[in-house]
Amino acid sequence: AFEVECQRSGVSVTVPPGKTIYEAVEEAGVDVLGSCMEGVCGTCECDVIEGDPDPRDSVLSDAERESGDTIMICVSRSRSERLVLDL
Ligand code: FES
Repeated sequence: AFEVECQRSGVSVTVPPGKTIYEAVEEAGVDVLGSCMEGVCGTCECDVIEGDPDPRDSVLSDAERESGDTIMICVSRSRSERLVLDL
């Protein structure tokens, strides 16, 4: 599990194995946009403020993947214990 802090909403959630960041933050009442839920459309993209994302999508380029500046929250996870997102 890892923690996701939604900076704009002032909400923090724990994301356990088997649950996506998208599901966890939505349950906590954070407004999120999504469509495919498979990491292919790019709708759920959001900026990473802090932490080391683990990209599992098919949208980002290799350079974007390496930069760790942005994340598709419907499929991607975190390598760090905590991710701070612009949500
Ligand atoms: Fe399509 Fe996340 S909802 S990439």
